[in-house]
Amino acid sequence: MHIKEVYARKIKDSRGEETIEVSINRSKASSPSGKSKGTHETPSYYQNLDWNIKAINLLKFDFSIQEFQDLKKVEDHISKVCDFSDVKSFGANALFALESAILKALARSKKKQLWQIIDPRARKIPTPLGNAIGGGAHSEDFAIHPVFQEFLLVPKGKKFKDKLRNMNEVYYKLGGLLKAKSKNDEGAWQCGQSEEEILDLLSKFKFKARIGLDIAASSFYKNGKYHYHEFDLDAIEQIKYINNLIEKYDLFYVEDPLNEEDFIGFKKIKKRSLICGDDLTVTHLERLKKAIFFDSVNAMIIKPNQNGSLLEVSEIFKICKENGIKTILSHRSGETLDSALADYAFGFQADYIKCGISTKWREVKLSRLAEIEQQIK
Ligand code: PGA
Ligand code: ZN
Repeated sequence: MHIKEVYARKIKDSRGEETIEVSINRSKASSPSGKSKGTHETPSYYQNLDWNIKAINLLKFDFSIQEFQDLKKVEDHISKVCDFSDVKSFGANALFALESAILKALARSKKKQLWQIIDPRARKIPTPLGNAIGGGAHSEDFAIHPVFQEFLLVPKGKKFKDKLRNMNEVYYKLGGLLKAKSKNDEGAWQCGQSEEEILDLLSKFKFKARIGLDIAASSFYKNGKYHYHEFDLDAIEQIKYINNLIEKYDLFYVEDPLNEEDFIGFKKIKKRSLICGDDLTVTHLERLKKAIFFDSVNAMIIKPNQNGSLLEVSEIFKICKENGIKTILSHRSGETLDSALADYAFGFQADYIKCGISTKWREVKLSRLAEIEQQIK
């Protein structure tokens, strides 16, 4: 395939904020954007969104792309033209949208599905991890909301469509049971109940969905303490508190239980649950290697637009698998209507996909996975 038509423009994400869409030979791809960002995350753009749009519209590609690995030619070309020693300097959102559009165009030129460009032998549909109740940085409506950022459902079921049905059922039942409520950025319920009140409520549905948490602990960690509404905890107390919650509520999944610099503290969180790095690892190979060295996690959030390079994302999947680390491909809180995340989750054979439950921006990804399940049976 030759890259003939390249066109980048601004579009609005689900929060109404500007993000980038790139069209290659008329195949379009876009980048979502995050709000609860890790300190070590790659910047989204080189200078700003306008700079990247102009730069992409000026790029000329005089080579052909035949397979996934040919993204190396694209990355080398950008590094050369822009004089970067690391292609990620281009900006993670801009690079991801560009690479994603190239892969979509390649799939179309070969009359294949996007996931087949990544791995035509992919078979296993990832399990959805759905944000049912939101607090922390994603919740603004209630004066006293939980400090934990996400209360997640890990639905049970034989097939993806059974899991989807269970997840939706529990999500709507929870909506009926919460006292005062509204919905946050990504369609999760927000309410004024405390962390443990919400966990008690979720426990009622254990036969349909196991419980997960994105604690996003860096967001309430200041001057060596974790600040809750009623009390403050130091690092040792926080580890004890989280380990108690894991036992008491039989938590299946715990994301970012500690501050994003505490690789050593993470080791002390009980690994009977999936202990997952997000702000800790920020979809970076070097941070993943550090987390492996310190035995910090047994699961990792992978947000393609947090890295930009799909080649590095592919390497991250490989290293996670070699080290027994479960992979969770994740959306961002500000999403677009692009369903490519579903193809990446399946193509890279992620164990889980985190992409919300309700609202059209999340549903396109879930229904795309249901469609893939139909196609491969
Ligand atoms: P985001 O974070 O707001 O950056 O998308 C979501 C998360 O912490 O998982
Ligand atoms: Zn997170």
